[in-house]
Amino acid sequence: KFPDEARVVRAAFLSSFFALLLGAIFGIIQTLHRTDVARIIPSTDYYTVLTAHGVFMVISFTIFFLVGLFTWALTRSLDRPLLNIKITWTWYGLMATGMTLTGISILAGFVDSIDMSADVLYTFYAPLQAHPLFYAGLTVFIVGTWIAGADWFRTFLAWRREHPDERIPLQTFMVLTTMTMWYIASSAVAASVLLFLLPWSLGFIDQVNPTLTRTLFWFFGHPVVYFWLMPAYMLWYTVLPKIAGGRLFSDPLARVVFVLFVLLSTPVGIHHQYLDPGIAEGFKFISMTNTMFLLLPSLLTAFTVVASVEYGARQRGGTGLLGWLTNLPWRKPEFTGMMLAGLMFAAGGFSGMVNAGMNINYLIHNTLWVPGHFHLTVGTAVALTMMAGTYWIWPQISNKPIYSSQIGLFQVVLWFIGMALMSNAMHAQGLLGVPRRTAEPEYSGFDYPTMFGGFEELNIQIAIGGTLLFVSTILFLGNLVLTMGNPKVSGLAEPLPSPVSGAEDAPQVLDNLRLWVGIALTLVVLAYALPIAAIINRGGLLGPGVGTYPVWLAPLFDALADAAAPLFGAVADLSASVVE
Ligand code: HEM
Repeated sequence: KFPDEARVVRAAFLSSFFALLLGAIFGIIQTLHRTDVARIIPSTDYYTVLTAHGVFMVISFTIFFLVGLFTWALTRSLDRPLLNIKITWTWYGLMATGMTLTGISILAGFVDSIDMSADVLYTFYAPLQAHPLFYAGLTVFIVGTWIAGADWFRTFLAWRREHPDERIPLQTFMVLTTMTMWYIASSAVAASVLLFLLPWSLGFIDQVNPTLTRTLFWFFGHPVVYFWLMPAYMLWYTVLPKIAGGRLFSDPLARVVFVLFVLLSTPVGIHHQYLDPGIAEGFKFISMTNTMFLLLPSLLTAFTVVASVEYGARQRGGTGLLGWLTNLPWRKPEFTGMMLAGLMFAAGGFSGMVNAGMNINYLIHNTLWVPGHFHLTVGTAVALTMMAGTYWIWPQISNKPIYSSQIGLFQVVLWFIGMALMSNAMHAQGLLGVPRRTAEPEYSGFDYPTMFGGFEELNIQIAIGGTLLFVSTILFLGNLVLTMGNPKVSGLAEPLPSPVSGAEDAPQVLDNLRLWVGIALTLVVLAYALPIAAIINRGGLLGPGVGTYPVWLAPLFDALADAAAPLFGAVADLSASVVE
């Protein structure tokens, strides 16, 4: 209906899938390398590969898909085009330019003759240091996402002026709440990059406080996982019930879930730092408690989405306690893909609970269990839903039917099998103590087989699983490329049905975004003010002592440190007494 917007959506999706291709190539290289099946790179390049895999997959593939999906969802649900398409292309251009710069800085790590390296992994906190281009590119990319959010908010406000008394359409509500969360979360990583990492990498300052940059990263690093997840949630809530032949069970519950993510996703980041020295145990405990509350929106989602799918099956004649399962469109890749993704998400939820428990986390911290966990969540729940959603959305934004639904079906099942093998074996190796982020986990002179028995066999599972995933990615991309060659047809648009319990049943307060932002910021201050004050008080805003800074900056830092010292001291004392 809106061809200009459809063009942006297609461009964003194609950028996303290009990143998926690169990510998959690096993924298979590192899988075969660390399992010792085939070593085509020297181990010294392992971190370059790992950084490329992580950044292309979880920053580029997921977020480009998100901006495409949100553009589609907002214009579709408001039934109006974006206000100014030039602004829309501007943010897309910024994101593409930023990611290209960051990508170049990472890939330059493979070329010995170029003095540039960004082997800092997708978590990019100190003490690992990247070339300035890496941080500059990320900054440009994130600014692009901020403008995208502003573009959507402005379009919504224009709609609001014309529809003052209407409820915010559900998909638009999802876009606005997710972007609200993103603004809060990404402010910390922007501060970390602009105030510390970029000046440090440029040589303007000699040192940073690593605990501070880690804390600021994880302030952003946990909500970012929900940023990846919300597009999948949007598809599960608003598209999956339709494909199943029914309707969303409850619009109000969907709104509650998105509000809960705005409130709860940020004050939990310290759970990634259970083993960091320099953060008092009490703060970690508070973060763990908040984390456990996050199970609530996931359980609500499981209930609502399954209820919607069951409703669809019964509409199609399904009966019995479980007999209705046979009345679902399992032959459609968009349906089966999303259902398998949801199943994997449940498994990921359970392994996530182990990560979240402060005591049991010590068992699996920094082992291969952790990638095992997030290949179930972002690597499947999100990635597979995005691929499955593409089979449904792409024909509508291009007027071209999918080249082959059979290949699509085979592809999504293959992903599921590949991930079941790879991720299960990663979890198991994690329990054996095998470290993550390691090129040669066998170490010389340290024999896992004799110690634990199953290491070699698990390696084979990981290698086979990773290979199936790679093949599945190629099938997905090949199917899409062939689809792009199909002739255009009309009549592919699919309207979305209204929910069983609609927006009119949702309390008005749910649409009060100002209220949720206020509460979210309060929770963030409660969770982070004391730990950050203590970290700065102990380790200095820019590491210990200011003598190491350039002469022209020293007076400024001296003044800042003098002004802030009493405040930080008082807050740190308070935090110590709270913890005691
Ligand atoms: C890490 C393989 C798809 C995100 C890893 C690791 C392996 C792997 C073996 C662990 C490396 C180590 O710790 O030494 C694969 C394969 C894939 C795939 C074969 C399919 C082609 C994905 C997807 C995502 C993803 C779809 C997310 C959307 C990540 C991230 C890391 C990782 C964030 C951690 C990087 C780090 O520790 O810095 N992958 N993966 N992967 N993968 Fe994947």
